[in-house]
Amino acid sequence: MEVNTTGAPAGPPPGLAAGNHTRKQHPPHFENHDHHHHHEIFPSKSLLIIIISSFSVVVLLAIFLIILMLRRFKSAKTNNLYKESNSINNGSSRFIAQTTINFNSSPELRGGCLYGGHLGRTQPHRYRGVQVFTYKELHVATAGFSEANVIGRGGFGLVYRGLLSDGTEAAIKMLHRAGKQGERAFRIEVDLLSRLHSPHLVELLGYCADQHHRLLIFEYMPNGTLQHHLHNEHQPLDWGTRLTIALDCARALETLHEHAIPPVIHRDFKCTNVLLDQNFRARVSDFGLAKLGSDKINGQISTRVLGTTGYLAPEYASTGKLTTKSDVYSYGVVLLELLTGRVPIDTKRPPGEHVLVSWALPRLTNREKVVEMVDPALKGHYSKKDLIQIAAIAAMCVHPEADYRPLMTDVVQSLIPLARNSSVGSSGSSRLQNQRPSPKY
Ligand SMILES: Nc1ncnc2c1ncn2[C@@H]1O[C@H](COP(=O)(O)OP(=O)(O)OP(=O)(O)O)[C@@H](O)[C@H]1O
Ligand SMILES: [Mg+2]
Repeated sequence: MEVNTTGAPAGPPPGLAAGNHTRKQHPPHFENHDHHHHHEIFPSKSLLIIIISSFSVVVLLAIFLIILMLRRFKSAKTNNLYKESNSINNGSSRFIAQTTINFNSSPELRGGCLYGGHLGRTQPHRYRGVQVFTYKELHVATAGFSEANVIGRGGFGLVYRGLLSDGTEAAIKMLHRAGKQGERAFRIEVDLLSRLHSPHLVELLGYCADQHHRLLIFEYMPNGTLQHHLHNEHQPLDWGTRLTIALDCARALETLHEHAIPPVIHRDFKCTNVLLDQNFRARVSDFGLAKLGSDKINGQISTRVLGTTGYLAPEYASTGKLTTKSDVYSYGVVLLELLTGRVPIDTKRPPGEHVLVSWALPRLTNREKVVEMVDPALKGHYSKKDLIQIAAIAAMCVHPEADYRPLMTDVVQSLIPLARNSSVGSSGSSRLQNQRPSPKY
C-alpha cells in the first residue's frame, strides 16, 4: 500500500522495501515525503483510535447494563422475601418484619424527592405502603412551616402539625441535624416503621427526602406525650388510664422484642416518646436510635451509648452492652413515673431522692412504703392491690442485673388482668369522650 502511494517500485517485502528505498533515494525530500507518508497513514491511526474508543464505550455500556441487571435481580429477590414474610404474618393482626433490614437499600435517597419534583403526578409515590411526599406538599400542609404550627421541639428537630391534601391531620417532623447521626435516624425510622405495624406503635404515613430536606410524616396524636400529662398537665391522668397506658407500652415493646425478627431494641423508650391518641391509648414513637438485636434471645450487641439520662440501664450506660433488657429497664422507669408522678432525675428534691430508681427501688417491695410513694395527684383514687402488683413489676424491670429483669411478654401477661379490672371498675376518665375503636387488651 505504502509503496503504491509513494510511487516507488514494488518489491518484496513491499512495506519494508518501500520504506528503505524512500529514505535512501530522496534524502532532501525526506521531510516532505515523510510528511506525505504521515498524511497517508494518519487515517488508519484515527480509524484505530475510533475503533478502540467505540470498543471501550461498548464494553463500559455492557458493564453498566450487567450492574443494572444484577441490582434489579437483587431487589426483586428482596421484594419476594417481603411477600413471603407478609404471608407468614398474615394470620396476625400485626405485620412483623421477618427480613434483615438493609439500611443501604432505602430508595428514598436514590429516588429522592426534590422540591416539587413530583408535581403533576396522578398517583402518589409509595414505598412499602408509606407515601413519598414532595417538600412542596409538606410546605403547603404546614402553611409554609409556620411557627404557629410547631407542636414540639426534639433533639432531632421541629415537629409541625399539618393537614395533608386528603384531609388527614399529621405530625411532620423536620430533621435538622445533618451528618451521619441524623441520616441514620431518618433511615431507621423509615425502614422500621414501614415494616412494623402495630396498634401500639405510632404510624408512619410517609416521608420526604432530598439533598437538603429530611421529613417524617406521622399520624397525629391529639393528646401529645405522656410526659406532658404526667409532669406538666394540671388535670392528672386517672389510675385506670395509667394502667392502660402501661399495658399499651408493654405491648409495643413486646412487639419489638419478641415478634420482630431480628428483635428491635428501641434504645430511647421514655415518657416523651409515648404518644396518646384521643382516647388516651398509647403508641410508642421515635425509632431513630433503634438497633437490631441479635437473633438469639437476649443476644448482646456492643454499641455506642445513646439514649436519655435517667432511662439508661446501668450495664448499658457503663459498658455499652445492649440487649432487649435495656428497654425493659427504661420501661420500668416509665412505670415508676406512672406510679409516683416523679421525673427520673430531679435535682430539686431532697438528697437521696434525686434519682427516681435509687429512691424507689428499696421501697417497691414494702407495702407501706409503696403507698407513700404514690403520685399525690391521684388523691387516693387507685386500687391498693393493683398498686402493690405494679410496684413489684417495676422493681423487677429496674433490677440492676439485666438477667433478673422480665421479658416484655411476662410484663404484658401480668398487666392484662390489672388493666382490664381497672377499666371495668373505674368510672373512666372525664377525657374518655369521643371514643374511637381502640385496641383490645
Ligand atoms: N405523632 C405526633 N403527634 C403529636 N405530637 C407529636 C408527634 N410526634 C411528636 N410530637 C410532639 O413533638 C414533640 C417533639 O418530638 P420529638 O420526638 O422530636 O422529640 P422528643 O421525643 O420530645 O425529645 P427527644 O428528641 O429527646 O426524643 C413531642 O414532645 C410531642 O409534643
Ligand atoms: Mg419523641
